[in-house]
Amino acid sequence: MIHVAVLGYGTVGSGVVEVIETNKTDINKKSGAELNVKYILDLRDFPGDPYENKVVHDFNIILEDPEVSIICETMGGNEPAYTFSKKALMAGKSVCTSNKELVANHGPELLQIARENNCNYLFEASVGGGIPIIRPLNYSLTAEKIDAITGILNGTTNYILTKMDKEGADFEDVLKEAQEKGYAERNPEADVEGYDACRKIAILSSLMTGKNVKFEDIYTEGITKITAADFLYAKKMNRSVKLLAMSKETEDGFFAMVAPFMIPTEHPLYSVNDVFNAVFVHGNMLGDSMYYGRGAGKLPTASAVVSDVVDCARHQGKTIMCFWDAENVSLMDVADTKRRFFVRVSADKKEAAIAAFASIAEVNAGFADEFAFVTDVMSEKEFNDKIASIGGAINRIRVEA
Ligand code: HSE
Repeated sequence: MIHVAVLGYGTVGSGVVEVIETNKTDINKKSGAELNVKYILDLRDFPGDPYENKVVHDFNIILEDPEVSIICETMGGNEPAYTFSKKALMAGKSVCTSNKELVANHGPELLQIARENNCNYLFEASVGGGIPIIRPLNYSLTAEKIDAITGILNGTTNYILTKMDKEGADFEDVLKEAQEKGYAERNPEADVEGYDACRKIAILSSLMTGKNVKFEDIYTEGITKITAADFLYAKKMNRSVKLLAMSKETEDGFFAMVAPFMIPTEHPLYSVNDVFNAVFVHGNMLGDSMYYGRGAGKLPTASAVVSDVVDCARHQGKTIMCFWDAENVSLMDVADTKRRFFVRVSADKKEAAIAAFASIAEVNAGFADEFAFVTDVMSEKEFNDKIASIGGAINRIRVEA
């Protein structure tokens, strides 16, 4: 029997217990041993819960129990998750986590501690919820040199943008409705400002390069400035607006960013709607591949955590290889990255805009007081200089081919 402890009995933690119980016959078979949830750590008590007798409030009970060999860290946040994970790994107990913040902050260090103690630090659930993406990058695509990853990595913002697209609604109204329905957090900043997607693309970029991509270095822009009018223009261009998290190896260097992009109907990520996530990976031999599914939610995320538990059970006493060194990757300055831009300026700036940008494609969505256009490919710096020279824009959105 393999004894498991779950840290944090919230949405994902209770999902982990439910997945292990619901699919126990299959999971035990695939693990090669019976899994038993021995402890659940939480500050709260859960009277009436079928697992109430497993709830403990002191992490040391778990740490000091030699029977516990696998720990699911579903607490979220940095502390005490970091201290608990570190102590568990140092004691030779494997840790499976859904905590993207902790993985993005301390991934290489925790992986190193796992290696030194012949156990595992696995984090399939930290990116894309239930979508298998960490394992494909670590195991399945090992023959590839991966040169680009583009993802829709945040369910909340994808839900909001999908609603804005389909219903012509404005950002604030959709956000309010999403909060009322419980799809968006009361404090939605981490999602709508792109911070959540930033941590996730930092993790994927680190696995892509085998080195450490610091989330603090990734240029991040959220969706709060996207309006219903932007979607009207996007429709005229046969496009939609999606919050993309991307990293690319280019001739000029490696860059990573999170920002809203206008993408065409034929783009593989165009049809990824509502709370779904998708990760589009380009390898130099395979070409394109895409991973799609539920990027958040109790059972999808818990399923990914439990898949890591099964992996740990199969590799007791052995560390599964994961290439993510502590050496930091130096990222290109976003100002030097190049692309086209969709721009809206007030109608009185039309002549100045044409003079500044020279080659443009006008877009008309029926707003008499505006002039809108798509630029040629140029660096962000060049774009910013030109737009500043005409006194700024109403809005601008990057355009993805
Ligand atoms: N808030 C996240 C989302 C949850 O909306 O995708 C999963 O990390």
